[in-house]
Amino acid sequence: MKVFIVGIAGGVGSRLARLLTAAGDRVDGLYRRPEQGERLAAEGVHATHGDLTRLDAPALAELLHGTDVLVFAAGAGGEGGTAATTAIDGTGLTTAIEAARRAGINRLLLVSVFPEAWRDRERSDTFEHYIDVKKRADAELADTDLDWTILRPAALTDDAGTGRINLSPALVHTDITRDDVAATLAELVHTPQIHHRILELTQGPEPIADAVRRQARN
Ligand SMILES: NC(=O)c1ccc[n+]([C@@H]2O[C@H](COP(=O)([O-])OP(=O)(O)OC[C@H]3O[C@@H](n4cnc5c(N)ncnc54)[C@H](OP(=O)(O)O)[C@@H]3O)[C@@H](O)[C@H]2O)c1
Repeated sequence: MKVFIVGIAGGVGSRLARLLTAAGDRVDGLYRRPEQGERLAAEGVHATHGDLTRLDAPALAELLHGTDVLVFAAGAGGEGGTAATTAIDGTGLTTAIEAARRAGINRLLLVSVFPEAWRDRERSDTFEHYIDVKKRADAELADTDLDWTILRPAALTDDAGTGRINLSPALVHTDITRDDVAATLAELVHTPQIHHRILELTQGPEPIADAVRRQARN
């Protein structure tokens, strides 16, 4: 299976790339800083240099040739203010959707966020804008005829993965390790029966493969 990860150098994207590469999948993806390409290559991960905000859909579609599953794990991550969030988390997804269509790719997995994340704390305008852009991106993808899946992880941590999660259409927002998000995405990549689903993800008691299998039966 060939998987293209937009945001392959990111915390989640790079972990997913390593897992899929180790599983024997063909992996490619977009990174924007040259040193990230060197790091990925040293880890045995193939990736392509490019900036999502400078590529139009036809140019991205060229890079996607032969891809079975497109994973969108990119995000501005608070850098560059609201304009960067709009350009990457919002318009970037629009470009990826159009590119997937042009390249004949049916499956798109989007890493999103709980819409109610951090309702319990004081929120900045920048954060509210981020949540708004992410929710609009979910809505845009859900309105396409692609075989989409939207994964909404809770607050991300760099703790070591536990291999155990909660995966469900509706959960209470807590947290989740990037290791476990990546492992869940890898499982979803290999479970094409799951599509047209919004799934929320937190740390929990169920082994990842079991949790994904259970959602595939639902
Ligand atoms: N942080 C949280 O608690 C949390 C919670 C739920 C969901 N999420 C979502 O989870 C996703 C992944 O999180 P993460 O921790 O893996 O984020 P991350 O480490 O910031 O990774 C995002 C990647 O996207 C890349 N990117 C940004 N703009 C780009 C562009 N124009 N062209 C190409 N690549 C670009 C970044 O590149 P650079 O490395 O060059 O910056 C980065 O490598 C994000 O979309 C985030 O919204 C986050």
